[in-house]
Amino acid sequence: MNALHRLTAAHLDLIVDTSSTPTIRYFGAPLGEVDTTSVIRALERPLVPGGLDVEPPLAIVPEAGGGFFGRPGLLGHRPTGIDHAPQFTVAGVERSDNSLRVDCVDDVAALRLAITISLDEALIASVSVHNDGPTRYHLDALTVTLPLPDHVDQLLLFDGRWAREFATRRVDWGEGTHQIDNRRGRTSHEHPPLLFAGQRGFGEWRGDVWGAHLAWSGNHSIRAERLADGRRYVQLGELLQPGEVVLESGESYRTPDVIAVHGYGLTPASWGFHRTVRRRGPQRVTPRAVVANTWEAMYFDHDPDAVRALADAAAAVGVERFVLDDGWFGGRRGDTAGLGDWVVSEDVYPDGLAPLIDHVRGLGMEFGIWVEPEMVNTDSELYRAHPDWVLVDQRRAPVLGRNQLVLDITRDDAFAHVLGQLDALLVDHDIAYVKWDMNRPLVAPATSGAPGTRRHTLALYRLFDELRERHPNVEFESCAGGGGRIDLEILRRTERVWASDCIDPLERQAIQRGLSMLLPPEVVGAHIGAPRAHTTQRTSRTSFRTATALFGHLGVECDIGAQTPGEQARIAEAIALYRRFRPLIHAGDVVRFDTEDSVMAHGAYAADRGEALVSFAQLTRSQQQVPARWLLPGLPFDARYTIRRIDLPGEVLGMAFSQPAWWAAGEPLVLTGRQLALHGLQPPVLHPETAVLVHLDRVV
Ligand code: GLA
Repeated sequence: MNALHRLTAAHLDLIVDTSSTPTIRYFGAPLGEVDTTSVIRALERPLVPGGLDVEPPLAIVPEAGGGFFGRPGLLGHRPTGIDHAPQFTVAGVERSDNSLRVDCVDDVAALRLAITISLDEALIASVSVHNDGPTRYHLDALTVTLPLPDHVDQLLLFDGRWAREFATRRVDWGEGTHQIDNRRGRTSHEHPPLLFAGQRGFGEWRGDVWGAHLAWSGNHSIRAERLADGRRYVQLGELLQPGEVVLESGESYRTPDVIAVHGYGLTPASWGFHRTVRRRGPQRVTPRAVVANTWEAMYFDHDPDAVRALADAAAAVGVERFVLDDGWFGGRRGDTAGLGDWVVSEDVYPDGLAPLIDHVRGLGMEFGIWVEPEMVNTDSELYRAHPDWVLVDQRRAPVLGRNQLVLDITRDDAFAHVLGQLDALLVDHDIAYVKWDMNRPLVAPATSGAPGTRRHTLALYRLFDELRERHPNVEFESCAGGGGRIDLEILRRTERVWASDCIDPLERQAIQRGLSMLLPPEVVGAHIGAPRAHTTQRTSRTSFRTATALFGHLGVECDIGAQTPGEQARIAEAIALYRRFRPLIHAGDVVRFDTEDSVMAHGAYAADRGEALVSFAQLTRSQQQVPARWLLPGLPFDARYTIRRIDLPGEVLGMAFSQPAWWAAGEPLVLTGRQLALHGLQPPVLHPETAVLVHLDRVV
């Protein structure tokens, strides 16, 4: 049996060796026509002096039992401690054009592994372990390991916090280990399950770059290690609490999907993630509707007349979907009560929501609603009836977060209750969209005493799946105090994520840039807020807010009717601009450009490279008086483009005295893709916190 299996895709190549425990021998750019055995021979490694007589493979599930001294892929044991170092042999290989399944057995430990890999726009791998033995198997970890070549010596890591998600951090990857553990019970603001690794100095369009993501909305552990023998790997998997997974005889555990990409430069590498989201996520036929959200417009102050007035003002500027945020249900007049009671508040809406929904529909908009189904306030009907339905060790005092507790939806009764209330809400009302929030992390979550994060995450997925099945036309958004639950598994069940509670455009430029390394723009909620941002108190121009929110799924989040007539007109202009460019931005390829630190430049190239829209934002003042030339690589060299400035709503200050002549005159330039890549464009001199837009149209 040939033990080398090669999967090829348009942008990727993969060679897996199944002569022993399955090992990736090559993953990266297409190799072209090659004899796969030559890859193995070329990369055969000499033995390490002073080491073992064999070099254990850096397998997809590396084995301590075979002498691997890094972190084993499978960690666990039986009650007496035996079977802690299993060793598998390959029992069968099944392959199709672009996927591979390898079954492995360890007859001594009575365990089986199944490894599945597919290759398309990305490599998607998962592993499952099955307990064939007569006793329990306590699973501590099962992860997917990807080897990386030796010349990869820098990492791009992601940190963050509430209102500052997806901050990037570049670190040298010399000797040793980088370990990122998330124990917050949701994907988290702090540790998005994502990393990139590349050649030192890699940029948006240069250097060999690999990226890896764990598609999972609970706890996770990500490791990047360079072994003393020089080999490097990244390893991703769920972080399991002690006792969280115990496999009884005949039971299995499967890891979340690990999704890995490669490209020359970060921009092409991230296309693998974007295309995967576009293929795996819910398929849409209609354009992404412009949202108006009530939260920053009125917070908990829901007065039906005021809500109707906001809807009128929203419709007048061109909004297409009106979303009623927190405060419409039960006793929810503030953030201390009401969560758990998903019934319309009779105090606030004595006639129910139907008249409001009719009003919104009559204005030509869809209606959307906010819920936080996994949560409960102690001051709620639900908690008073079922104080034991919370995801804690019942013997201990729970830790509150935003005055709330987590509901134990792993219980059938609690699950059925939440499903029943949400289903009734969607059956009884004309609701097109649900913003699903999760405003606190899990702290020592327990169900019947046992650790509850994994079970909670699976129950959450089941709840989504069941609701989507019953209401296939309703769209969902994943929000968790902003961007606390953003991953490619929740995005199989939601059309959108709320990137951040911070809609200050200066902060959002950075948040959305980090996020764009994982997500395509059409799933990223991006709103135009009030001139003074609520989370930072910073004031910004409408033009800057527009240029920032345009590269996402646009919304407006402010008291629209209370803005000056001029501001309302500018918001209307912003929405018109979004509608014009939505087809390009939402189907094209995200591009980011390398610039000096005071600038952020990015945009979208149409898939056929027939047009492009790019943005140049001056964030802070630069050391140099005239900004550096803007290089725009990645367009076909011989294609010719007409290049025009696109005017944003309102003023972009500073341009009157310091702009290139073609720019000032509003005259188009014609340049080739080669020119754009090699000598680029001279941007105007801009004040800080301003942005400009440029459109490129291919000359046929
Ligand atoms: C979270 C969300 C906000 C808003 C509030 C409501 O913070 O991120 O957008 O929905 O909850 O309580």
